[in-house]
Amino acid sequence: MIVIPSPARIAAPIATVLIVEDDPGIAELERVRLDDAGYRTVVAATADEALGALAATEIDLILLDYQLPDTTDGLDLYVRIKEAGYDVPVILVTGFSSEATLIRALRIGVRDFVTKSVEYLDYLPDAVGRVLGEIHTAQQLASIIASAQDAIIGTGLDRRITLFNPAAEQMFRCPGVRALGRLITDFIPDQFSPATDASEPVRFETQTLPTRGVRQDGDEFPLEVSVSFGSTGGQRYCTLIVRDVTERERMAAELRRTNELLAAVVEGTTDAVFVKDRDGRYLLANSATASFIGRPAGEILGHADADLIEAGSAGVMRDNDQFVMKADRAVTSEEPLVMGGQHRTFSVTKAPYRDASGAVIGVIGISRDVTERNRLATERDALLARLRLQIERMPLGYVLFDADARVIEWNPAAERIFGHARHQALGLSGFDLAPPAFRSEGETLLGRIRSGDMAAHSVNDNLTRDGRVITCEWHNTPLLDENGRFIGFLGLAQDVTARRSAEDALRLRDRAIQAVTQGILISDAEQRDDPVVFASPGFARMTGYAAEDILGRNCRLLQGPDTDPDAVARLRTAIRAGEPCTVELLNYKKDGTPFWNELSISPVRDAAGKLTHLVGVQTDVTRRRHLEEQFRQSQKMEALGRLAGSVAHDFNNLLTVINGYSTLLLKEVALENPLREYVEEIKHAGNRSADLTRQLLAFSRQQVLATRILDLSATVKGSEKLLRQLLGEAVQLRVVTGPNVWPIRADSGQMEQVLMNLAVNARDAMPTGGTLTVEIRNVELSTKHAAEHPGARPGPHVLLAVSDTGTGMTDELKERIFEPFFTTKEPGRGTGLGLSTVYGIVEQSAGHVTVTSSVGVGTRFDIYLPHVPEAVQREETKSVAPRPEGGPETVLVVEDEQSVRVFSRLILTKLGYTVLEASDGAGALKVATAHAGPIHLLLTDVVLPGINGRLVVERLRAVRSGFKVLFMSGYTGEALLQHGIRHESEQFLPKPFSPAVLAAKVRAALDQRACFAEL
Ligand SMILES: Cc1cc2nc3c(=O)[nH]c(=O)nc-3n(C[C@H](O)[C@H](O)[C@H](O)COP(=O)(O)O)c2cc1C
Repeated sequence: MIVIPSPARIAAPIATVLIVEDDPGIAELERVRLDDAGYRTVVAATADEALGALAATEIDLILLDYQLPDTTDGLDLYVRIKEAGYDVPVILVTGFSSEATLIRALRIGVRDFVTKSVEYLDYLPDAVGRVLGEIHTAQQLASIIASAQDAIIGTGLDRRITLFNPAAEQMFRCPGVRALGRLITDFIPDQFSPATDASEPVRFETQTLPTRGVRQDGDEFPLEVSVSFGSTGGQRYCTLIVRDVTERERMAAELRRTNELLAAVVEGTTDAVFVKDRDGRYLLANSATASFIGRPAGEILGHADADLIEAGSAGVMRDNDQFVMKADRAVTSEEPLVMGGQHRTFSVTKAPYRDASGAVIGVIGISRDVTERNRLATERDALLARLRLQIERMPLGYVLFDADARVIEWNPAAERIFGHARHQALGLSGFDLAPPAFRSEGETLLGRIRSGDMAAHSVNDNLTRDGRVITCEWHNTPLLDENGRFIGFLGLAQDVTARRSAEDALRLRDRAIQAVTQGILISDAEQRDDPVVFASPGFARMTGYAAEDILGRNCRLLQGPDTDPDAVARLRTAIRAGEPCTVELLNYKKDGTPFWNELSISPVRDAAGKLTHLVGVQTDVTRRRHLEEQFRQSQKMEALGRLAGSVAHDFNNLLTVINGYSTLLLKEVALENPLREYVEEIKHAGNRSADLTRQLLAFSRQQVLATRILDLSATVKGSEKLLRQLLGEAVQLRVVTGPNVWPIRADSGQMEQVLMNLAVNARDAMPTGGTLTVEIRNVELSTKHAAEHPGARPGPHVLLAVSDTGTGMTDELKERIFEPFFTTKEPGRGTGLGLSTVYGIVEQSAGHVTVTSSVGVGTRFDIYLPHVPEAVQREETKSVAPRPEGGPETVLVVEDEQSVRVFSRLILTKLGYTVLEASDGAGALKVATAHAGPIHLLLTDVVLPGINGRLVVERLRAVRSGFKVLFMSGYTGEALLQHGIRHESEQFLPKPFSPAVLAAKVRAALDQRACFAEL
């Protein structure tokens, strides 16, 4: 409601009045009256003076004389003043007042009239005061209307708008010019129309009504309208003061919402929220309070705790409430209460409840049931205590590091492992615990831990306080804060130095087992049939069975048809008895190849001595057995050789006599003598026997060889014709000669003999025909070949290979073919000396022979003869020139075999020599000493009773000089060398000898220029 003050209550303002009066006396009178009334005055006598005064001074009111000298009248001046832009109120002073003048004056805005009369000067100040008061009031009203916060809208009875202030423009978003004249219902549609009946009395009381407004753009908004009615000059009007309550309603709504929210919070919280008055009566209690107390909220309000809960608990609460009110501050405490028969603990915060003046009128409280929380906290504390104890007692080093890897926690186990006491360790860097070499690896590890790697475990070297390097296994766990930031890590450390070295030792053992060439198998003795649980790579290499082939199975799968059942039985017995055993038995590889297995089985027992496993070590001894077999064979041949040699030697002595005398007899017995035939038979048989002993000697490597440097290919070529004849038509001969066959040292006759003997054997092995291939070429024998063939030496050799396509031989046969008198031929078809002669000749020529044969395919003999170095090749074998048969010299014959001695004497005497005889060395010396004449030749047996032939020479030389020496013997080779005699030398006469050979050798010895000195 706008209260307009009445004009009377307006105090007279200090105003300036312009007196426009052409009569100076009147002007003075008016001026004095107004001055007296407190106004300032300016006087103007003419219109121009008046306009000049207006321009010069702030004029509040013009007192205008109607009658002016220079204008038609005062009203014309007023028009001019207005036209000049001045809006100054005018009081017209007239000497008379016609109705027309008055109407004109009102029309142009004159505010009042004063008629010049006797007393007009008396009420002039009042008139001036009233006009100025009215103007002031109107101006104030206008300014209020213009500056009002509320919209002020005026309407006539017809509801058309006559006033629309700026606040209304803003509120309804409509300029005043567009609002004026429109119906108020365009803006405020709700019906609260001003009185329409002009006859109704004017009501000045105002009403305030809530309603809604419509803005120009159609938006609706809440408003509150005060309506007042009035009338001027019989014109009824209505004034509406309109307030936009949008904001107020928004705030009211917000307040409501806030209250609701608060209520919801209070109700929604599980904490008890309550307010009590000074006497402890509940003014507010939320549902949690009701639930704690165990009664509906309605029953709680207005009651104190003593009415509601157990007396002791109520006392506790009451005491706390009173303490808070007295202390006049908020207090948090724990209240142990009995609620609903149960002991519970509440954490409660109570604060004073105040009225508007701040006086404490009760308590406000929030209470939480912390019984469970306290129980959990107690449990947690107990758990933490237990954990701490465990950390203290755990055998693992417990090391807590901060984000910079510095130690912040360290348990006694860590002290034991690293030697640093806790106080020494705290603050150490993780790197202080490791040798410098670990730095880079450690950085990498730390990087992984920092990045949150939960598996950043490591086994690395560490350093103890006393400088020892130990190996630790670390289990590292990164620690993060609630924002996921890395704040350190927990390292659990275990000293694994001992375990590590045990592992290293085990690894070494394992590597050794992997490397061993022998097979190693472990079987589980606690399971049925000893299944294999481990097989070494050596086993796989040896047998061809991969681990997966044998694991879980029994190793008897290595046995086969030729495995010795006795050996298997020995194994079985030992295994059953849990005893170690070693056997050699034939096994079969995965591909079926047989091999000799030297198997050692040992029991493995646990700490209690119980048999748990069996370990078997297999060695492939096939090659060793092969070599042993070869060695046995060569020893057998050696023994046979010696036997054959000694038989041949004795036999040669006899043959020398038999053949010698039969030769002599044949010379004596006349052709027609019937006894001659007998003697010839004896001679024939003697010759054949001599052949046999020669072969025997050849086998025993004791025959006399005429060795020389020889081209074996030439020898073979020279024999080709003979060979073809020997082989017959059915057998084809192929001779293959390699390039530049090296020379060898051999007796070419003996080599031919070898070829012939092999050819005869081959022919007999190919009864229906076939091919005999003779191949000669150079070969370089390896050490391996030498190691595998007894008697063989590595180096350059010439190979003579003779192979046939005949029946072949079994292994058993092959082993015996070189034995003398061993034959597969029918009786009478062979002597059984052919291959033994081959064997003897080859061996005597420093070579060796191997044989390979396969039944139904054929047989091949490989003869290796050593290559002769060039220097030796240059030596020429001197040929013996033919010499005269006999002579006049004296020969001393020393021979223990009487028949040979007598035979020799007979021959030599016949040849004209003087012959002295002795049966042993001592006799020889005696004879020589007793003989006065010269002795030209000493013909002596090598092996004699007492002193041997060589010693006889030496002893005789001590007493006599200038005699030549010729040794004779049935032995050759090694046996002779033992006596210092080389059978190749020219001073040697092999037994048996014919009279011609004896004559030639004796003559040659006598004719030698030098004495026999180099022996
Ligand atoms: C650890 C172990 C290794 C063995 N290795 C062999 C082997 O290499 N060759 C073989 O013939 N037998 C081997 N045997 C023996 C056989 O597994 C089996 O014990 C043997 O043939 C006697 O048992 P039986 O009569 O049940 O076959 C081995 C046994 C054991 C326990």
